[in-house]
Amino acid sequence: MSAIPVYIHDDGEGPAVVFLHAFPMDAGMWDPQVAQLHTDFRCLRPEFWGCGESPLPADDHSLDDFAAVVLRQLAALGVQRFAVVGLSMGGYAAFALLRQARERVSHLVLASTRSEADASQARASRQALMDWVRRDGVEAIAGSMRQRQLSPAALANPSLVARLREITARCTPQGVIACLEAMSVRPDSTAELGAIGVPTHVIAGGADVVTPAAEMRSMAGAIPNARFSLIADVGHFVNLEAPDQFNGFLKELLEPSR
Ligand code: MLT
Repeated sequence: MSAIPVYIHDDGEGPAVVFLHAFPMDAGMWDPQVAQLHTDFRCLRPEFWGCGESPLPADDHSLDDFAAVVLRQLAALGVQRFAVVGLSMGGYAAFALLRQARERVSHLVLASTRSEADASQARASRQALMDWVRRDGVEAIAGSMRQRQLSPAALANPSLVARLREITARCTPQGVIACLEAMSVRPDSTAELGAIGVPTHVIAGGADVVTPAAEMRSMAGAIPNARFSLIADVGHFVNLEAPDQFNGFLKELLEPSR
């Protein structure tokens, strides 16, 4: 397991909330959440190796390696117990955190994600994406992925698209390749859903073609007492396309812990 520390953005004071970013993104994707929550919560945003301010990956790093490093660093920061908010790849990392330290997690938000491992077709697509990044750089694949990740309304919103480009530009080719590798070897977490014993909110975008709402609803059904919400007409990045609704859901889940 890699001992290289990752960078963790640490803003605000109060009960701790750990935000886990998607792919190919960094902690900046959570700015609209931190802007509203940092007055009442300590918002911690780790970044995967090679993304944002984290150092380049030195080797193959699994999402379980990432979770282990994050858990260790959180403990060093005095954060023992925390809520977890993970979107897409961040959701896969949330499952890894739960696997290693279920007792440290107080609340869980799973947005636009899935519990299943990659099927062989998805693994092959990731290999093709790795080759594409090596050849043409990060923006080439990110620009193409955005066409599927964003709803039609978001794609027509130049400031949102520019913001996503800015976030992606902070991901290095090495980081993007490391994320693709880590996602392609992640284990299936479906059998663990029934053991999630903390207040959980599963949030889906009605126009998300990457992680369709029907799949998310059925994942929520396998988590004891989980709440499921569908935000109509928004794409994969529900927190960016509908920040007010998303933040409202976070506050409803987390407020009682203050
Ligand atoms: C993400 O948004 O993190 C990705 O779509 C996840 C994936 O490629 O499986």
